[in-house]
Amino acid sequence: MTSPWYKSISSVLGLRGLLFFILGVVALVTILAPLTSNSYEASSTLVPNVYSNYRRIKEQAAVDYLDLRSLSLGTTLREFPLCGKERESYVPCYNVTGNLLAGLQEGDELDRHCEFERDKERCVVRPPKDYKIPLRWPLGRDIIWSGNVKITKDQLLSSGTVTTRLMLLEENQITFHSEDGLIFDGVKDYARQIAEMIGLGSDTEFAQAGIRTVLDIGCGFGSFGAHLVSLKMMPICIAEYEATGSQVQLALERGLPAMIGNFFSKQLPYPALSFDMVHCAHCGTTWDIKDAMLLLEVDRVLKPGGYFVLTSPTNKAQGNLPDTKKTSISTRVNELSKKICWSLTGQQDETFLWQKTSDSNCYSSRSEASIPLCKEGDSVPYYHPLVPCISGTTSKRWIPIQNRSAVSLTTSAGLEIHGKCFFLFLFHSFRFTWYLHFLNVSGLKPEEFLEDTQIWRSALKNYWSLLTPLIFSDHPKRPGDEDPLPPFNMIRNVMDMNARFGNLNSALLDQGKSAWVMNVVPVNARNTLPIILDRGFAGVLHDWCEPFPTYPRTYDMLHANELLTLLSSERCSLMDLFLEMDRILRPEGWVVISDKLGVIEMARALATRVRWEARVIDLQDGSDQRLLVCQKPFLKK
Ligand SMILES: *[C@@H]1O[C@H](CO)[C@@H](O)[C@H](O)[C@H]1NC(C)=O
Ligand SMILES: *[C@@H]1O[C@H](CO)[C@@H](O)[C@H](O)[C@H]1NC(C)=O
Ligand SMILES: *[C@@H]1O[C@H](CO)[C@@H](O)[C@H](O)[C@H]1NC(C)=O
Repeated sequence: MTSPWYKSISSVLGLRGLLFFILGVVALVTILAPLTSNSYEASSTLVPNVYSNYRRIKEQAAVDYLDLRSLSLGTTLREFPLCGKERESYVPCYNVTGNLLAGLQEGDELDRHCEFERDKERCVVRPPKDYKIPLRWPLGRDIIWSGNVKITKDQLLSSGTVTTRLMLLEENQITFHSEDGLIFDGVKDYARQIAEMIGLGSDTEFAQAGIRTVLDIGCGFGSFGAHLVSLKMMPICIAEYEATGSQVQLALERGLPAMIGNFFSKQLPYPALSFDMVHCAHCGTTWDIKDAMLLLEVDRVLKPGGYFVLTSPTNKAQGNLPDTKKTSISTRVNELSKKICWSLTGQQDETFLWQKTSDSNCYSSRSEASIPLCKEGDSVPYYHPLVPCISGTTSKRWIPIQNRSAVSLTTSAGLEIHGKCFFLFLFHSFRFTWYLHFLNVSGLKPEEFLEDTQIWRSALKNYWSLLTPLIFSDHPKRPGDEDPLPPFNMIRNVMDMNARFGNLNSALLDQGKSAWVMNVVPVNARNTLPIILDRGFAGVLHDWCEPFPTYPRTYDMLHANELLTLLSSERCSLMDLFLEMDRILRPEGWVVISDKLGVIEMARALATRVRWEARVIDLQDGSDQRLLVCQKPFLKK
């Protein structure tokens, strides 16, 4: 290796050269614009879609151009101003006051409503005064800085007996474990109780029953999820937006998978047949209202043979309800369960457990008055209104969870391609029969999948080695150099903003990184979300022209592979996307953007505007693909 296989674009072009290059490109687009605009008016009746799309790109380019031009007048790139203190914990799209004013009610006002978002001042969100970088995993799972979450001592103390026992507020820390460092025994007992109801000897056997992914509705302080993670399961916490004492914020601060999501009026942004278990312990949802549509939503996201666990104070009358309603929620859910082919499998103390049928013929054998089947395809709903019918029954993904208990989906271990022999072995190995079935069901070629797996393994090695402040120094690190010493690459919560098959996630697991990934599939990308969820990973559908349903500073690393190229055909502004990325990234967190050279140059200018340190990396693989590695600064007050 005589020639350096790495060089930095920025050092060749220089910052100003770079800016002028971008301005040149954007200016060209803008200069050509009037022509297209006229032809659009003339031919709009003939091919409206092509031209209106093009016009949108052009308009956005013009806006971005004006913005860039205005900043080129100064000598340096103009940074966005810092937001005021009121935006510290701001989550867009959840303005309850505004929603009530707009006439929303019956819980709908607590839902996500991005349509009422006004044009906000573009500014960079600052951390609270006493914000501290979270502790490393797994210590950070048990101890968090109280200044990082919006929670008051009073909220902690008034939050119920179970939760207060779990938490000790020390000087500036919240501790979630008992003195001996073990997770509070109550959670263990509870998990064992659920395992017994399923017919298992202990909670370590969940995997043998095919249970890996758990949708945990209203996760409290995340202790159940933390326990499931220790059992190598994948719990995903969802809870409604809460201005203070947020369950989602706490879970993410502890490094546990979570996002804002709720059961009021819209479907969750997951495909049908996604989770092995749905869990609700004192989650506050009244399951039998709205023609049982909430329960039908649980049924939709449950895989065949999956479980619904409901823990609630049973046999207690509900306060002000009429006499007919004075039965426990579990009893009422149980009445409904028969209509949707669920069977009550266990009941102990406050906990009820139902199993969804694994037999799709069950539905046709129900009585006449039962709930109808939906006539949908396999598309993933994006905050679609709840539906009064049963979903997923005709899906090709109707595979009972018990049928894949022998398959480890945690990692792609064994998917190495060491020549053709191994590849052939794959086809004949029993272990991968199910894997191949799921590839086939998703219309994916095994070769395509395996190649993608391989690409991301080597990509991750490069990424990881670059995640060190050294990359911005005069003697920057090169891709592939030895891993930096802690705490530089302290990464637990990762978001893959354009996740495709989830292979960055599987590469992280294969390389033994203690990270979890929120795999995001953009609405206008290929619908690979079912594959991601079937692999047992966390995944969600999202429109990147809208804010992501999470709290500020909740991710340690954001990864955007070809996302900017994908979004260039959208109306939304990349500047707003960068501000949103900055909002959800914690101080000193990392962004890795992989895209084509021209796009990366644009991204670099935007990264400067949100004050990230950024460096363009050429992997010298002969392609015009470049990396932009960025770190968000810790803006102290
Ligand atoms: C919420 O909406 C109200 C009414 O539209 C508005 O006055 C208020 O500023 C909004 N709050 C935030 C945080 O955007
Ligand atoms: C699941 O396994 C059972 C028993 O092994 C088998 O009879 C059934 O056909 C399988 N179902 C599917 C959908 O593969
Ligand atoms: C894959 O799916 C196609 C139809 O979608 C089917 O004809 C074929 O037999 C399947 N192959 C395997 C190995 O399951």
